[in-house]
Amino acid sequence: MAPNAMRLPDWAQVGDKRRAHIERVTALLDRWAHEMHLASNDAAAWHDVGLWHDALRDAPEPELRALTASGPFSDAPPDVLHGPAAATYLERHGESRTGVILAVRYHTVGNPAWDRTGRALFMADFLEPGRRFQQADRAFLAAQLPRDFDGVFRQVVRMRLEWTLREGKALFPESVGLWNSVR
Ligand SMILES: [Fe+2]
Repeated sequence: MAPNAMRLPDWAQVGDKRRAHIERVTALLDRWAHEMHLASNDAAAWHDVGLWHDALRDAPEPELRALTASGPFSDAPPDVLHGPAAATYLERHGESRTGVILAVRYHTVGNPAWDRTGRALFMADFLEPGRRFQQADRAFLAAQLPRDFDGVFRQVVRMRLEWTLREGKALFPESVGLWNSVR
């Protein structure tokens, strides 16, 4: 398989809109990896988490609950289950890169223990060009990222946290920890 091939895994359960989002996120990660001259194993990890993070986004809730029944997401609301469910699926099928697993598992809520793979996915998921809000600001940040990875990360954490609060959604301890680690 060519390194930049856009091939979703055969266990993916996604509709057309979600598939298009996944492809945009992965393309953005590939672009950053190229511009930052990442080593090939890091670039491969960025590509993989792009393709995998939302692979179970449209799976039925009982299936997601079954994959997250034990662990920190056992009582979590349905819209955050697809990350941990995909991570558990990957672990069961032999994925052993801890940075990849942590990136996929926590991509919706955040985690201060992330390496650059987790941080890059969190930013790509938010900065991909298909989202309709704050398009100019987000495109600017996406262009800025290869030169200022940490500065853009801090800004994205802030923007996503503000959105979570505005929407009245629950804050996970990992989200708070992430904010405290970058503020
Ligand atoms: Fe996503």
